Amino acid sequence: MTQDSMTPVLEARGISKRFGGVTAVNNVSLKVMPGEIVSLIGPNGAGKTTTFNLVSGVLPPTQGQILFEGRDTAGLKPSEFARLGIGRTFQNLALFRHGTVVENLLVGRHIHFRYSVLESLLFWGRPRRDEIAAREKVEQIIEFLEIEELRDKSVSQLAYGQQKRVELGRALACEPKLLLLDEIVAGMNREEKEDIARFTLDIRDEFGVAVLMIEHDMQVVMDLSDRVYVLDFGSKIAEGTPAEVAADPVVLRAYLGEEAEHV
Ligand SMILES: Nc1ncnc2c1ncn2[C@@H]1O[C@H](COP(=O)(O)OP(=O)(O)OP(=O)(O)O)[C@@H](O)[C@H]1O
Ligand SMILES: [Mg+2]
Repeated sequence: MTQDSMTPVLEARGISKRFGGVTAVNNVSLKVMPGEIVSLIGPNGAGKTTTFNLVSGVLPPTQGQILFEGRDTAGLKPSEFARLGIGRTFQNLALFRHGTVVENLLVGRHIHFRYSVLESLLFWGRPRRDEIAAREKVEQIIEFLEIEELRDKSVSQLAYGQQKRVELGRALACEPKLLLLDEIVAGMNREEKEDIARFTLDIRDEFGVAVLMIEHDMQVVMDLSDRVYVLDFGSKIAEGTPAEVAADPVVLRAYLGEEAEHV
């Protein structure tokens, strides 16, 4: 193994997040290695989305350290996290509803453009080259996600499963090294779920992107994950292969507790 393949793409060391009196994330450590698909599971309110918000720079941790490819991310702005190579989909749809599919994908790409408006005026050659490269990348993604027939449609006209696919495309447009998927298959039918599962595997295998996904669908977790972390009430209660975690009595108890509350 080379040094590079041994450095985690993402490493969280003892991260915590408190909101007033609520400890949403409590001293959680996790790693995603290059080329891995890792799932983060746990009952509702376990702290999964908050963990994503911490590792993608949306929220600063109350405690702990977040390293991306071995570099400490403390003090970076959210836009700088995206430039490091973190792409993300959100639990609730986060697209420009009135933009077309192509426009939404271009927005995902624009984090790579670092110049100011003044620079664009003075050095118009560079922005134009970037614009052409962005359009090429977006066309590749459209082909990869098999959404050619949707490209010029307004996002607001699309079915929910199609919108989720566009959101995945937008996250890919920034050419991430790590993709964070927050319950991407929730609300999808079996066929749509299978499509997303296939895309996720292809994203890893063809583009070499590591994936950290929050997922409630156990079939998807079992089929895709190399490793799984389990959160409950903000704390990590288990980690291991899908089979190990599924057989862990502590995990079963956490989920049964949730079922019991719903009775
Ligand atoms: N901005 C916030 N302010 C206050 N409390 C918050 C905030 N965000 C999350 N919480 C609380 O933190 C806890 C964890 O929430 P989080 O959304 O991370 O859970 P989750 O595991 O993603 O749940 P779900 O499966 O329902 O999506 C919850 O008790 C939630 O109410
Ligand atoms: Mg959530």
